[in-house]
Amino acid sequence: MRIILIGSGVVGGSFIKLVSLRARDLVRGFGIRPRLVAIVDIYGAAINPAGLDPERMLAVFEKKGAVCKDPTFGKPGLSGVEVIEENDAEVVIEATPTNVVNGEPGMSHIKTALKERKNVVTSNKGPLALALPALMELAQYNGVYLRFSGTVGGGTPILDFAKRSLLGDQIISVQGILNGTTNYILTRMADAGLSFNAALKEAQKAGYAEANPSMDIDGYDTAAKIVIIANWILKRRVTLKDVDLKGIRDITCEEVKEVASKGKMLKLVASAEGRIQVAPMPIPVEHPLCVSGVLNAVTFTSKYAGEETIVGRGAGGMETASALLRDLIEIKNRLYRSSI
Ligand SMILES: NC(=O)c1ccc[n+]([C@@H]2O[C@H](COP(=O)([O-])OP(=O)(O)OC[C@H]3O[C@@H](n4cnc5c(N)ncnc54)[C@H](OP(=O)(O)O)[C@@H]3O)[C@@H](O)[C@H]2O)c1
Repeated sequence: MRIILIGSGVVGGSFIKLVSLRARDLVRGFGIRPRLVAIVDIYGAAINPAGLDPERMLAVFEKKGAVCKDPTFGKPGLSGVEVIEENDAEVVIEATPTNVVNGEPGMSHIKTALKERKNVVTSNKGPLALALPALMELAQYNGVYLRFSGTVGGGTPILDFAKRSLLGDQIISVQGILNGTTNYILTRMADAGLSFNAALKEAQKAGYAEANPSMDIDGYDTAAKIVIIANWILKRRVTLKDVDLKGIRDITCEEVKEVASKGKMLKLVASAEGRIQVAPMPIPVEHPLCVSGVLNAVTFTSKYAGEETIVGRGAGGMETASALLRDLIEIKNRLYRSSI
C-alpha cells in the first residue's frame, strides 16, 4: 500500500513510528505492507517510490528539522498539492494543523487527493467541519474512500463504535465531552477551586492547552467534532455554521460551585438532538458522561438499546496515529473485498 503522508508533527511523526513498530504484524495480521512513498512537511518533501525508511526519516527530522533535508530523497520547496498530483499512491494521510476558518492547507490536500482518485485518511477536523458533506460527495464521485476516525476522540473509537457496533439500532441523539483541555479546566475549577484563568494557566503549563487556547475554550474544537458525528453517524448535512456555540471563557468559580452543590459538574457538552449545540451544562456526577481530567466521553442514545457511553483519552500522538492505522486497514480491507 503506497502512502503519501502530509504533516510530520506529533500525529504524523507518531504514524511513522507506529508503521515501523508494527511492520511485521501489519503484514501477518492484515496483509498490509505500508510503503511511505512521500512525506511532506512545510519546507518540502522526501520522496522515494520504492518506499522511505521510517527510521531514517525520523532521524533526519530529529537532526535537521525537516524531511526534505534528506541528502538522497529530499526535495525542498515541494508543496503537498504538488506531491499528491505528481506521485502514485493508494492513500494520502493528511495530518496538518486544524484551521476552522478556511480549512487550509488540509482542504486543498484532501480535495486534490480525492480528485486524483486517491483514498484519504485524515486526523484534521478543520476541512471536515467546514465541508464534510461536499467532501464525502467528492470521494464518492471519484470512487475512493475518505476516513477520519482520529478526528473525534483521538485513538478512542467513538465514530467506529457508533457506526458499526450500533448498526442494528437507530441512534436518536448524541451527547459528548469532546475536548480534553476544557474538561481539564472545568475539573480543576471544581476540584481545586481555581479561577478560570488559573486553571487555564495550569493547563497550558501541563501542555494540554495551546498558547492561543481559543480553539478549545471558545468551543470550536468541540463544535467541529459534533459536526463530524452529526454527518457521519446521524446522517445530517451540517457544517460548523449550523452549531449553536458557547464556550467556557466566562464561567466563574461561583457557577461551578453552585452546580457542584446540586450533585452535578459543569461540563462543555456537545449535543445533537434536533439542534446541534455546544454549551456548558451541568451533568449529574453519577452519569457515565461525567468524566474528569482530559478524558473524553460520548453517550449515544439509541431507540432499542438505550444509552451507551464510550470513554477514553481524546488525544495523543500515538493514540491518534493508531486511529490513522485503523482507517488504513479498513480501506485496505474494502479495496480488496469489493468494488466501491
Ligand atoms: N495531537 C493530537 O493529539 C491530535 C489528536 C487528534 C487530532 N489531531 C489533529 O491532527 C492534526 C495534526 O496534529 P498534530 O498534533 O500532529 O499537529 P502538529 O504537531 O502541529 O503537526 C502538524 C504538522 O504539519 C506541518 N504543516 C503545516 N503546514 C503544512 C503544509 N502546508 N504542508 C505540509 N505540512 C504542514 C507542521 O509543520 P510546522 O510545525 O513546521 O508548521 C507540523 O509539522 C491536526 O489537525 C490536529 O487537530 C491531533
